[in-house]
Amino acid sequence: MTKDSKQIKVFVTRDIPGGGIDLLRNEGFDVSVWPEDRPMKPEELINAGKKANAMLTLLTDSIDKNFLNECKDLHIISQFAVGYDNIDIAEATRLGIPIGYAPGAMSDATADTAFGLMIAVSRKMFYMHNRISRGEWTFFRPKANLGIELKNKVLGIVGLGRIGLQMASRCKGAYNMEIIYHNRKSNPQAEKILNARLVSFDELLSSSDVVSVHCALNEQTKGMFNRTTFSKMKPTSIFINTARGAIHNEEDLIDALNSEVIWGAGLDVTNPEPMSATNPLLFMPNVAILPHIGSATIEARGEMSRLAAVNIVEFYKRGKIPNLVNSGALSVHRS
Ligand code: DGY
Repeated sequence: MTKDSKQIKVFVTRDIPGGGIDLLRNEGFDVSVWPEDRPMKPEELINAGKKANAMLTLLTDSIDKNFLNECKDLHIISQFAVGYDNIDIAEATRLGIPIGYAPGAMSDATADTAFGLMIAVSRKMFYMHNRISRGEWTFFRPKANLGIELKNKVLGIVGLGRIGLQMASRCKGAYNMEIIYHNRKSNPQAEKILNARLVSFDELLSSSDVVSVHCALNEQTKGMFNRTTFSKMKPTSIFINTARGAIHNEEDLIDALNSEVIWGAGLDVTNPEPMSATNPLLFMPNVAILPHIGSATIEARGEMSRLAAVNIVEFYKRGKIPNLVNSGALSVHRS
């Protein structure tokens, strides 16, 4: 689609860092930004969407069937994230609304988060920090606070894509960990450079010392980690999730930790978000929780901002979307 960009109304659902908003303005688009420092409510989103031709959205925006059908003048949505489970992709495709996203930008930042959580859990770091803040550092105790080492252990990656590859590289480089993974299709790059081995989900669960989740949230992965799957893991194992909270069942995770079915857990994502301040996971020794900060670096968020904006610019200027989720939307004739 080529149009005079001055006529194109772009709505950005939060003030985002990096140059994305300036890039859109410099290209001549008529850009508005949601002014408040909170996610938009569904009705606020619909009101804004009805007046927009393009939207730059966040993972906290509910882009559901109702929204997509109400916002009749929308040509494109571009998401400031690699994940897009907040968007009804099938409905957007049916309606001919292309969805852009921002992959790759946060691979290092998110892998660093997973790697940091793994170490923090293995040595009970967050729990120890909290104990000191409560005045509970008494004296050196030879038998207390023992963690586990990671050298030569087995890392099982669920969803070995860009982020999983970076996590695996860190674990191989730092601890010579053996890498196994479970994917829909093999990852030849990981097999070549890390000697990674594709295994069944059950083999991954029973063989891994650390299981790190990097897959997308969808109908197949929702609740994938539950009572049954935790029970197949080693009692000495660590579960890391930096992907989406709904991939694990929180109640089952709490039970698995309490009954020593697994050893520890590190989460950057919870279900719901934010997690309640009284959640039992926050008080467990072998647990480390972060508030969904996987991509929260200046570098990653800056690049996400640029990629999300470029999708919109390229769509209007050249009829192409560099990072497109649903190519099927482009062939739908919209009246
Ligand atoms: C993503 O990009 O999907 C992250 O979860 C948030 O940055």
